[in-house]
Amino acid sequence: MCGIVAYIGKKPAATLLLEGLKRLEYRGYDSAGVAVANADGKVQVAKSVGRVRVLEELIETRRGFDGSTGIAHTRWATHGGVTEVNAHPHCDDPVKGHGIALVHNGIIENYASIKTYLLEKGHVFKGETDTEVLVHLIGELYQGDLERAVQAALREVTGAYAICCICEKEPGVLVVARKGSPLMVGVGNGEYVVASDQSAIVAHTNQAFTLEDYTVAKLTRDSLRTSTVDDVEIDAKILALEVDLSEIELGDFEHFMLKEIFEQPAALTRTLQGRVDHRAGQIVLGGIGDHARALASSRRITLIGQGTALHAGMIGSYLMEEWAKIPADWDFASEFRYRNPIVSEGSVVVAVSQSGETADTLAALQEAKARGAMALGVINVVGSSIARETDAGIYLRVGPEIGVASTKAFVGQVMVSAMLALYIGRRRFLSQDFVSSTLRELEAIPAHIERILKQSESIRRSTEKYIERENWLFLGRGVNYPVALEGALKLKEISYIHAEGMPSAEMKHGPIALIDKGMPCVFVATRNSQYEKVLSNIQEVRSRGGHVIAVATEGDEHIKSMAEDVFYVPDVTEMLQPLVTVVPLQLLAYHAAVLRGKDVDKPRNLAKSVTVE
Ligand code: M6R
Repeated sequence: MCGIVAYIGKKPAATLLLEGLKRLEYRGYDSAGVAVANADGKVQVAKSVGRVRVLEELIETRRGFDGSTGIAHTRWATHGGVTEVNAHPHCDDPVKGHGIALVHNGIIENYASIKTYLLEKGHVFKGETDTEVLVHLIGELYQGDLERAVQAALREVTGAYAICCICEKEPGVLVVARKGSPLMVGVGNGEYVVASDQSAIVAHTNQAFTLEDYTVAKLTRDSLRTSTVDDVEIDAKILALEVDLSEIELGDFEHFMLKEIFEQPAALTRTLQGRVDHRAGQIVLGGIGDHARALASSRRITLIGQGTALHAGMIGSYLMEEWAKIPADWDFASEFRYRNPIVSEGSVVVAVSQSGETADTLAALQEAKARGAMALGVINVVGSSIARETDAGIYLRVGPEIGVASTKAFVGQVMVSAMLALYIGRRRFLSQDFVSSTLRELEAIPAHIERILKQSESIRRSTEKYIERENWLFLGRGVNYPVALEGALKLKEISYIHAEGMPSAEMKHGPIALIDKGMPCVFVATRNSQYEKVLSNIQEVRSRGGHVIAVATEGDEHIKSMAEDVFYVPDVTEMLQPLVTVVPLQLLAYHAAVLRGKDVDKPRNLAKSVTVE
């Protein structure tokens, strides 16, 4: 995924674009670039490899970035290496062209055939990207009207795009378009700020609209025209943005990841707000109300996602079987999509995703729908591509997540999955009493997490003891097995330490060979139906010299004799334990990354969401 920002108005565009890029940098950060249309009509371009601050320093040394129309981009490489040439903006042909500059998020799938056509027409390409091909095509089709040329080019392409483009021949015009990749237009007083998400818009205006797929917007300082790629005029539905600036700023925290870990209690309180009806012993889920009956009679529920979202989906499948008593399973969206899944009427496929933009999850959901499944979403970003593809869904309401390592979205996804399981279960077998008491347990989770967060410093001290170790194991059973996977993923993605998560019992089927003196083995060993079994697995590690770090239930003194370090969590009913057991593991990963001097919020090679397959 990449971040796009564009501006047209009265202010100096370059400053505003750089500020917007910094807010969007979590979306991709291997290179960045800006193009500004100046008063003299010239389009100035600056690009650099590395972070936005490198680009900012470059622009400070250059003249001519003083216009008030411009486009900018921060990249996560897909086609072509991380080079200045491949960074955006891209321009049309220097000889045959018209001074058109373009930024793009997405993938033009048929770029190779278009490139062949353009090469035959004499175009010369500097780099290897699909985006350069698109801007050359727009240039080829340009006949004095940028909006028309963009529409014509987009009629020729397949794939996904969010684009913004300017042209030397039309200095007061900004043309933007979208299909598949997100793009919003902020509407201010005599100005427009266009961006991949609202975080680059809210500082300027709270009025905005989301571009629909296959839609083009032509913006000038004092006009807005939205149309389809076939030039049928349509209305833009301008709405008030709900996000608050403080939600996307660091405040007193050093990193977004830590801020988001500490936001979990408040985030989960919002997830529950207005959705709990104690009197009826029921959950109120307006987004799926019309499907209640079909859900209660569904024959199978499959939860799909990738990475952290899949781990939450795995826990969701345990919850569905336990509470809704419907056969449930989970799959990587990327695998589900291509394994010819048996999905039919009566099947429900639940897409779990923070961003709502993950390409594999989106495609898998489309596949499931095409095969007759009901498509549900457990999504954070309102109006995202996956949310729009679903038949119904439940938003997480945990607020914007900016740290690349997902934390508060995970607990939000688990909580929503629990609510969904209770919702369906109540319509099948669950009693009012059971649901009411479980709802009270859910409502107590934010306070439980507050208590765990107080251990942050002692978790840091424990982590420090093992910080030189390059291999870790994370182990858990039942609903805490996905938590073990999540703990391992968190550690590897931000500290680059090799970590493997697995069911505790699986260890002795091979991975036990890895255990040597002092190897850190993190066990989720809370009191539940499998506690005794986990203790046996802990003994297996200890007798081979491994160091045990246990996540245990408050009051469990016995475990201290079996573990070098213990992180305590409040006693919670077994099925809801992941909501608390994951928190110490998030903190462990965070402290490990800081202790190793890593860039916590922007780990190498990653981007916040993966919009390519
Ligand atoms: O936006 P999504 O929840 O669909 O993203 C799915 C994964 O890419 C994401 O959870 C990823 O694994 C995170 N980096 C984990 O911290």
